[in-house]
Amino acid sequence: MSSLEHARALVAEAGRVATFTGAGLSAESGIATFRDPTTGYWARYDPAELASPVGFAADPELVIDWYNHRRRTLAAAEPNAAHRSLAECADLIHVTQNVDDLLERAGARRVLHLHGSIGLDRCDRACGYEERIDLAAPPGLRPCPFCGAPIRPAVVWFGETLQEAVWNASVEAISRADLLLVIGTSGVVYPAAGLIDHARSTGAAVVVVNAEPIRSPADVVLIGSAVEFVPEILAGRRTGGPGGSPGSDVGRLD
Ligand code: OAD
Repeated sequence: MSSLEHARALVAEAGRVATFTGAGLSAESGIATFRDPTTGYWARYDPAELASPVGFAADPELVIDWYNHRRRTLAAAEPNAAHRSLAECADLIHVTQNVDDLLERAGARRVLHLHGSIGLDRCDRACGYEERIDLAAPPGLRPCPFCGAPIRPAVVWFGETLQEAVWNASVEAISRADLLLVIGTSGVVYPAAGLIDHARSTGAAVVVVNAEPIRSPADVVLIGSAVEFVPEILAGRRTGGPGGSPGSDVGRLD
C-alpha cells in the first residue's frame, strides 16, 4: 500500500476528523507562507516590527499598511482545490493558524482561527470594539470610536496570548478526533503546534501533508502539494465515508 492509499484509508475509516492547517494550505491560492526562504514573509520582513505589540506601538502606520497590503492580496485570491475538498466534508472541524478566510469562502462552516482573522479589526486597548472590514478596500490607521485607542487587526501577534475560547474549543475538537489531518504547516509556532502532539497523546491517528518534512510525529507523511494530495486523501470520505456529504450514509451499516 502506498502512503497515499494508507492516508486515504485512515481518513475514510476515521469517525471524527479534525484538521490543523497552516500557510501551506493557502500557498497555492497565491498567499505567501511565513518561512519559505525566499518568498516567505519572515524572509522579507521582520516579525518583531510587523507582528508584535512593540512593533505596533513603535510604528502603527507601517503595521497597518502591511496588513492592508495582505488584505488586498487576499481579496483578489480564491480558495484552491484543497480548501474546496475540505469544505465538501461538512463534518470536519478545522483548526487553523491561518488568518485568511479561504476555508470559509470555500464553504467550510466549522473553522477555528487560532491566530485570529485578518478580516476583522479591533480596538488595541481591547475595549470591546470590533469591526469587519472590506478586504479589498481596508481603512487606514484610525482611532477607536469608543475609546480613542488605535484600531488594529484582530490577529494574534508574537508575545500575545491566544483567545482562550478559541484555544479551548480547538483542544476539545482535537481531543475528540480519531484522526488529525495536518496540512501546510512548519509546526514550529507554539502553543498551536503542540496540538499535533496532543492528538498523538489522545490516541488519534495523524496524517501530514506538507511540502517538506516536519518534526512532528505522524502515522503517514505525504510530502508535496496540498492541492495535489488533499482532494485525493479525502476522496473516500466525500463519496461515502462516515459523516461525508449528505446521502453518503446510503448502504452504511452502523
Ligand atoms: P510556515 O511558513 O511556517 O510553514 C508553511 C509550511 O507549508 C512549510 O513547511 C512549507 O513547506 C509548507 N508548504 C508550502 N507550500 C505548500 C503547499 N503548496 N502544499 C503543502 N505544503 C506547503 O507557516 P505556518 O506553519 O502557518 O503566526 O506558520 C505558523 C505561524 O507562524 C503563522 O500562523 C504565523 C507565523 O508567524 C503569527 O503570525 C502569529
